[in-house]
Amino acid sequence: MEQPKGLDLHVDVDRRPGRVGRSLEEALRKALRSGRLPAGTRLPGSRNLAADLGISRGTVVQVYAQLIAEGWLVGRPGSGTRVSPTPAAADTGPTMEGRAGRGRRPDAAAGHRPEAVDLRPGRPDIGAFPRAAWASAVRRVLTSADPELWDYGPPTGLTALREAVAGYVARTRGVRADPGRVIVVGGFAAGLALLGRALSGLGVREVATEDPGLDRHRRLLHAAGLATPPLEVGPTGADPDGLTARAGAALLTPAHQHPYGVVLAPRRRAAFVDWARRHDGYLIEDDYDGEFRYDQQPVGALQALAPDRVVYAGSASKSLAPGMRLGWLVVPAALHDPLVRAIEETGTGVPVIEQLALADLIERGEYDRHIRRVRLAYRRRRAELVRRLPAPLSGVAAGLHALLPVGSAGHEARLIEVGRYAGVRLHGLHGLAYWHRPSGERPAALVLGYATPPQHAWQQALDRLVEVIDAVGLAD
Ligand SMILES: Cc1ncc(COP(=O)(O)O)c(C=O)c1O
Repeated sequence: MEQPKGLDLHVDVDRRPGRVGRSLEEALRKALRSGRLPAGTRLPGSRNLAADLGISRGTVVQVYAQLIAEGWLVGRPGSGTRVSPTPAAADTGPTMEGRAGRGRRPDAAAGHRPEAVDLRPGRPDIGAFPRAAWASAVRRVLTSADPELWDYGPPTGLTALREAVAGYVARTRGVRADPGRVIVVGGFAAGLALLGRALSGLGVREVATEDPGLDRHRRLLHAAGLATPPLEVGPTGADPDGLTARAGAALLTPAHQHPYGVVLAPRRRAAFVDWARRHDGYLIEDDYDGEFRYDQQPVGALQALAPDRVVYAGSASKSLAPGMRLGWLVVPAALHDPLVRAIEETGTGVPVIEQLALADLIERGEYDRHIRRVRLAYRRRRAELVRRLPAPLSGVAAGLHALLPVGSAGHEARLIEVGRYAGVRLHGLHGLAYWHRPSGERPAALVLGYATPPQHAWQQALDRLVEVIDAVGLAD
């Protein structure tokens, strides 16, 4: 039979009785440690290696199982045994000796290094994407849309989508939206880059940003030549007292602050609006997960308080999937033309088929139905999370992530490290790139993106998270 490539393996084995297994194990460990067998290398099947070495297959199976348990190798049914992809897996690694006192890596006893499930914040369950509804919408668009639409379209987006979005955000978020003020963009990030450019062109030099807040968004503003002074976030949201005399705008996440998850309190909303009116300033309302509120009525959009001062921004990244790269701005009249100029100068635009398909989805009520469905699934996950974790979560009333405060930055790092060995990818408030303030002044917490795992992996993710917390605890 033909041998698949790369499966010959040279190892010296001591064939004396009682020494065979031990010597094979040592020889393999030596080859792994020295790098002679680099990460990802496929090893021969146990039957072939046993035949090549003239030893029993059972011995090879036992040796492989031992090295898998130690993290040197990974084994998956159907895809054979390979050298572990993460070299760190081969060191002794942190053990789960904490409160549980088990002194072993989780899952080691099961004989395999588990595939990691991710609890990264900022993601929906992309496995829940409504494929059938989207496919039907695209088919309808391709068969019935006027071919004129395949031409260069209006820079602000096709009328059909602008009308659908205006109706949707007015109905669900209380936004004061006229289709003429809607601008379709390639996700919030693209919208923010355009806003940065437009504001910069109007003479704005600083856009205040939340601390903590997404560094990715600050960098987009920097790229437009804008400074981003911090607005400290507390239990009632961003502090308007942080607005500097030079600020021309502020970027806010009022409905569910990212990452703290708090809601911008009515008094602070009023103070930001008052500042914008008095200083001819603008507020950028990033309503990235506004559809997902569980305990009470969603907090209405800030934009409704001052449509001439607030840019409302929505995105399909949480409601459908980040890879859609679809979003929308509802803009004050004074920003409309500067934004059109920014779109034209940068040559950006959104593909028409996606625009028409999304309009179709919204108009037929499929978009709402999808959101209701996933909201129910996320609400269930959230309830399980709250029930199984040993301490209260914060920021849990809305959105797709919640915070589990922990004792120190060191402890946060340890939980993440142990999670890595337990097969659950955890992310920390202290360590993530959210901050303006120096590291000594940052609180520590796990930021749990409970929507991220696909439905079939959710229980596993939760079990592993609980196992890690149980073993390590939440404080030193
Ligand atoms: C705070 C915040 N704003 C906006 C977005 C959406 O960005 P985009 O539409 O560019 O995917 C995200 C997504 O992770 C986010 O976390």
